[in-house]
Amino acid sequence: MANVEHEYDFQGASFDLGDERDREIVGFILSQALFGEATGVYCGQSLYAARSLEAARFYVRQARQELNHLELFADIFRLLEMQPVPGHWVIRAMSSHNHYYPLKVLMEHAIGEGMVLDIFKDVLLQTLPEDHPQVPAIKKKLASVCREELEHVQWGEQETRWVLSQSPWLATPFYGILELQLAFAPLILKPFEAESQGHPVLSHLPAFLEHVNQRVWRQGQELGFVPQQRPGPLKRLWAMGCGLALLVRSQLSSARSTLDKTYLAELGFTR
Ligand SMILES: [Fe+2]
Ligand SMILES: [Fe+2]
Repeated sequence: MANVEHEYDFQGASFDLGDERDREIVGFILSQALFGEATGVYCGQSLYAARSLEAARFYVRQARQELNHLELFADIFRLLEMQPVPGHWVIRAMSSHNHYYPLKVLMEHAIGEGMVLDIFKDVLLQTLPEDHPQVPAIKKKLASVCREELEHVQWGEQETRWVLSQSPWLATPFYGILELQLAFAPLILKPFEAESQGHPVLSHLPAFLEHVNQRVWRQGQELGFVPQQRPGPLKRLWAMGCGLALLVRSQLSSARSTLDKTYLAELGFTR
């Protein structure tokens, strides 16, 4: 992921914020963002298991940024005079905190925040209608959120590379988890499928989903855990089984502190 310029082109399609149903759909998307930002705040918990001073610095900075994003999305609801709804179950499942550092950096930062960025920069920045009096100010806020989310994705990618260099065996479960995430993510859009035909924005959904799939796939290949050719169903199932097993194991593990053991070396006091 290199920039905050949009990658999928909605070709000028936008929602109509004067239309009740469109307002509900935009409210639904913003509600998922609001829930995601609320869970983003507890990345503060990651400080406990930060593996280096650099990681500690990142999580302090990220927690502050996510708290700002949370309040900023609340402002957007007020500006558009909308009421948020609870987070969708897929978003809840995908944004649950993981104590196991390798899964945290892959699932939350590299893939999870990568998809969040797709929605913010490709969907919201393009499809909120420019002619609405509040939208130009909202887009300014969103653009600054996108720049910070991009940093979070880049951190996830850097740390995923490091994790794989230390434990190359994680490549198979990581690949299985990516297949699972790609299988579950489209379920969020299911409620809108029936009305997508003829709607200026929703009619783009199948192509947009395909774009996200391909982008995440390439991202996994660049990070070195997705094979060049998609394996057959049996190998895929095996990888997903390995991914699920790692997920279950990670839920049973508790966070282990690091800096209390490494702070002298981290600060340069080595003999
Ligand atoms: Fe955020
Ligand atoms: Fe973030």
